[in-house]
Amino acid sequence: MSNKVVVNTDIEQGIINKNIYGHFAEHLGRCIYEGFWVGEDSPIPNTNGIRNDVVAALKNIQIPVLRWPGGCFADEYHWKDGIGPRESRKRMVNTHWGGVVENNHFGTHEFMMLCEMLETEPYICGNVGSGTVQEMSEWVEYMTFDGESPMANWRQENGREKAWPLTYFGVGNENWGCGGNMRPEYYADLYRRYQTYVRNYGENKIYKIAGGANVDDYNWTEVLMREAGRMMDGLSLHYYTIPGDFWLGKGSALDPSDKEWFITMKKALHIDELITKHSTIMDKYDPEKRVGMIIDEWGTWFDVEPGTNPGFLYQQNTIRDALVAGLHFHIFHDHSDRVQMANIAQTVNVLQAMILTEGEKMIVTPTYHVFEMFKVHQDATKLDCSSTVGTYELNGEELPAISVSASKDQDGKVNISLCNLNHKENSDVSIALRGMIEGAKQVSGRILTASTTNAHNTFEQPDAVKPVSFEGAVLTSDEVSLTLPPMSVVVLTVE
Ligand code: AHR
Repeated sequence: MSNKVVVNTDIEQGIINKNIYGHFAEHLGRCIYEGFWVGEDSPIPNTNGIRNDVVAALKNIQIPVLRWPGGCFADEYHWKDGIGPRESRKRMVNTHWGGVVENNHFGTHEFMMLCEMLETEPYICGNVGSGTVQEMSEWVEYMTFDGESPMANWRQENGREKAWPLTYFGVGNENWGCGGNMRPEYYADLYRRYQTYVRNYGENKIYKIAGGANVDDYNWTEVLMREAGRMMDGLSLHYYTIPGDFWLGKGSALDPSDKEWFITMKKALHIDELITKHSTIMDKYDPEKRVGMIIDEWGTWFDVEPGTNPGFLYQQNTIRDALVAGLHFHIFHDHSDRVQMANIAQTVNVLQAMILTEGEKMIVTPTYHVFEMFKVHQDATKLDCSSTVGTYELNGEELPAISVSASKDQDGKVNISLCNLNHKENSDVSIALRGMIEGAKQVSGRILTASTTNAHNTFEQPDAVKPVSFEGAVLTSDEVSLTLPPMSVVVLTVE
């Protein structure tokens, strides 16, 4: 069946918050150490210890916000261990992730420096699970107070004169699990208490994010919104796309079977239902949608690459990951009235990474390319889209064959992104462009696709999967028609 899409270019549906293209970097495996931080004495080219190649690659995808230091690590992190002269910083055990030594060389100053280099906003996650109220309160004072105070003075002694601007602050992470194994009632009370002392100093206004639900724990959202909704600006949600079973075997990142490919697409699409149901609960307590849904961990989670440390969560990244990313973005766009931020897990060398490194070598992944292609949607105006699409079937189960989203940029250009989920068949698409007063004059596009389901980039073949120009879109004044190859992501620009 041919897929019919109508893009109503004159029906605007609000702004797609650029922060849904956000990222997450944890002290986990080789994300922070090697991925970002190599130290000033490293032979790997760096600026003040942060590797130049990674910063340059990430600047190209315009990361709007970066979450740090965890994850599970956040609720065991004591920020005072990570400031002052590096050689005297405390060495600790990273109990969650591989039991390795954490030397605290990458701390608050280094993270803020990284954000400045990336021109990205910091999003700091504080420690509720094993930290004190005082510790959290003093961290915010250390970072954001510009007057005379013990913490501001200490920051200055450590070389930073001016306070850093800091908007996003998370009060704990996964407090139903690694962040303290709490019941929602208990965490809601702790949240109320801890957030009281997360102060706004001077002009700095903190956007407070409460630790939210795991997947479909709707009771968590209900209790948090009921008991603490008015004291938060955002509530998080975590959902990973795992084709297999979390404990029994998640599935290989490379070489998915037909069934695994299909299940991966199905599970990626499931985030739509989760957002809808959590949002409905949030609507009950917050009909004005003041509280943002912050999906601060999402992405694929496969078995680690054979031979790698199981605690390091290192996985390859294929064209399948690219499709998962595209589908998530389209769903986030559809919920842009509630979803104010999302942070893919994780930026470098961990889970669904943008970048993989091997010593001094660096490659970008198919997921990176989707971020790059979709940056046209950042802070653009979402356009209404309606579609009648065919199905993608396997063993009697059905999914929509394609997914589409459209936005208009500040110059009036219309950007339409499309994903063909089907790994075997083309999809023909016709897009009616309704509401363009003078009609469309030209269309251009780029495509990311591959001929095998395990197509990925390696250090030997870094450009095996990369976007190329797409010449297959045919334009009449009010319609674009094209054929999407199997497992493809296309972004069209209509002017
Ligand atoms: O991203 C890896 C881990 O997944 C995070 O540390 C934790 O928050 C989640 O369970």
